[in-house]
Amino acid sequence: MYPKKDKKAEAARRAMQEAIDNHTADLAPVVDGRKVILEVTDVIRQYNQYDEVVTAVNRASFRVFMGEFVAIVGASGSGKSTLLHLCAGLDRPQAGSIVVRGHKLENMNEDELGKFRGSFLGMIFQSHHLIPHLTALENILVPTLMCGRDEISYDQHLKLLVASLDLADRLHHLPSELSGGQQQRVAIARALINRPQILFADEPTGNLDRANAEDVLQLLLDTRAEMGCALVMVTHDLSIAARADRVFKMEGGRLRLWNNRLDGILPGYEGGEESYE
Ligand SMILES: Nc1ncnc2c1ncn2[C@@H]1O[C@H](COP(=O)(O)OP(=O)(O)OP(=O)(O)O)[C@@H](O)[C@H]1O
Ligand SMILES: [Mg+2]
Repeated sequence: MYPKKDKKAEAARRAMQEAIDNHTADLAPVVDGRKVILEVTDVIRQYNQYDEVVTAVNRASFRVFMGEFVAIVGASGSGKSTLLHLCAGLDRPQAGSIVVRGHKLENMNEDELGKFRGSFLGMIFQSHHLIPHLTALENILVPTLMCGRDEISYDQHLKLLVASLDLADRLHHLPSELSGGQQQRVAIARALINRPQILFADEPTGNLDRANAEDVLQLLLDTRAEMGCALVMVTHDLSIAARADRVFKMEGGRLRLWNNRLDGILPGYEGGEESYE
């Protein structure tokens, strides 16, 4: 028999686990035989700048299936990063709903959202957002603090990531001691360490030369294949967008489907390395 106070502690632990399970259970709906990992409906995000209201995202709606590669293109300032941050639960919309794995992000408080994000979502930021006083290795491991999985599985996964991103001899350096490309690769490892179900990538190849950009893209595509996660990538590079399953275009905060791979090549894109804009 447990003493009475241990029973209480056990009940509290169970209640906490139940609360976590409620927020993490897989409730993703299935449409046309495919699991919907992300459903965005009529999302609006406005900023107040002086006397002006900027509508960065204007009633955006789209759906992403598990395992899909979706690209988002659009001119600078059209709202791509804002939309990605909303989808990744890093910002809240004024209107509309964002549902991940069947869970409405708006129903979660900051604490729940933080854990949910850490468990299921990965984000590669347009500017890397590495923590300057932490080493590359410590930066990569930051998301693991949010969800306590066993260290052995992290260890193997970490080794693979470090090897494929060619970071082995840079792990104990600070971000300021790394090149732009190396910082980007650390940011990618950080986004992948928790094996996310959706990986959001905001121009992940924007600061890389062609050879490095191709390596990073291949890594993201391989990761998607291996983990079965969805990849939602903002890019200006049409040769990358052309490889996505579907391409959306953002114009003045409005999002529309631009191309479905089954329909043929992208409008106006004839191959080669030309970039959007
Ligand atoms: N924190 C903010 N405060 C005020 N306005 C903002 C803020 N963040 C973004 N905006 C505005 O919202 C609009 C969309 O910005 P966003 O960064 O989403 O564009 P983007 O498509 O990602 O551009 P880029 O291709 O240059 O990265 C822009 O007009 C921008 O000035
Ligand atoms: Mg941006």
